Amino acid sequence: MTTNNNPVKFAYWVPNVSGGLVISSIEQRTSWDIDYNRKLAQIAEKAGFDYALSQIRFTAGYGADKQHESVSFSHALLAAIEKLKVIAALLPGPWNPALAAKQIATISQLTNARVAVNIVSGWFRGEFHAIGEPWLDHDERYRRSEEFINALRGIWTEETYTLKGDFYRFTDYSLKPKPLDPLPEIFQGGSSRAARDMAGRVSDWYFTNGNTPDGLKAQVDDIRTKEKAFGKSWRTRIGINAFGIVRQTEKEAKDVLQEVLDKAIPEAVHGFHHEVQNAGNASPERASLPFRISFSTMMASART
Ligand SMILES: Cc1cc2nc3c(=O)[nH]c(=O)nc-3n(C[C@H](O)[C@H](O)[C@H](O)COP(=O)(O)O)c2cc1C
Repeated sequence: MTTNNNPVKFAYWVPNVSGGLVISSIEQRTSWDIDYNRKLAQIAEKAGFDYALSQIRFTAGYGADKQHESVSFSHALLAAIEKLKVIAALLPGPWNPALAAKQIATISQLTNARVAVNIVSGWFRGEFHAIGEPWLDHDERYRRSEEFINALRGIWTEETYTLKGDFYRFTDYSLKPKPLDPLPEIFQGGSSRAARDMAGRVSDWYFTNGNTPDGLKAQVDDIRTKEKAFGKSWRTRIGINAFGIVRQTEKEAKDVLQEVLDKAIPEAVHGFHHEVQNAGNASPERASLPFRISFSTMMASART
C-alpha cells in the first residue's frame, strides 16, 4: 500500500469583507467582524482545515462595501488560533515588495511561521482608479506580480538582495530578521494564460476558479508543460476555489442553490462580469477564464 505524502488540503474563505459570500438577497448569516472571524477560525482549526484565505479589496459595491485590510486582519486571526495557517492577500501596486517582505517576515516571527501570502494581480480598474494607482495592462500586471514574487523570495532567502527590475529596485538589501523556517508559502490567484505562465515560473501554489474537470485538467497540464519549459525546480501545487452548500440531502442543497440564484442581484453580477471582461480583454488571447464560468460561480467569485 502506498501512502499519500501530499494529501488534499482544505482552506476556507475568510469573510473579512462585508456582505457574505454570494451576491444574492438570500439571507446571509456570515459576518465580517473580527469576533465572528476568530470563532470561525477556531472552528475551522478544530475541524481540521489547513488554511484560511483572506481577501484584499480597497473598494467594492453591493454589500461588499466594507473591507478589513488583509495583512493586519490575518495577523489578528493568527493570534486567535494555534495550528491553522492564514494566507494574507497582497495586491502589487498598493503594496511594494519591501514593505510586504518586512510585514510578512515579522508576522512569521510572531506566529511560529503560520503566515502565507496570496499574490493577486487585480481585475477591478475602478478600485485602482479610486486609490490613485496606475492601471497596467493585463499581462503587465502579471509581469509586475512575477517581479514582486521574485523580490519577496529573494529578500527572504538571500543575505543581501539586489534587483534591477522593470518595476522594483533593491541594492544590497539585507532583511533582518528573515521569516522563520518554513518560509511563507507563495500562492497566486488567477486563471489566465499569463497566470499560468507565472505559476509555471515562480509560485508555490496556483489558485484558480472552479471549472469542469476537463477545464481544470487543461490548466494543470499547461502548468506542468510550462514548469518543464521554464526549468522550474519545484512542482507547483494546485488550489481550486469551490463553494459548497451543505445540507442533509442533495435535494435540500439544490433547493438552496436555486434560491440563491432566484434572489441573485443581476446588475451586480453583470457589473462584475463587465469588469472581468475589461480586465481579460487586455490580455493578448482575450480569454480570462471567468468569461467561461457560469452565472452561479460568478456570483461567488465576485466577492473577491
Ligand atoms: C482563490 C482566488 C483568490 C483571489 N483573491 C483576490 C483578492 O483577494 N483580491 C483581488 O483583488 N483579487 C483576487 N483574486 C483575483 C485574481 O487575482 C485575478 O485578478 C483574477 O482571478 C483575474 O485573473 P486572470 O485574468 O488571470 O484570470 C483572486 C482569485 C482567486 C482564484
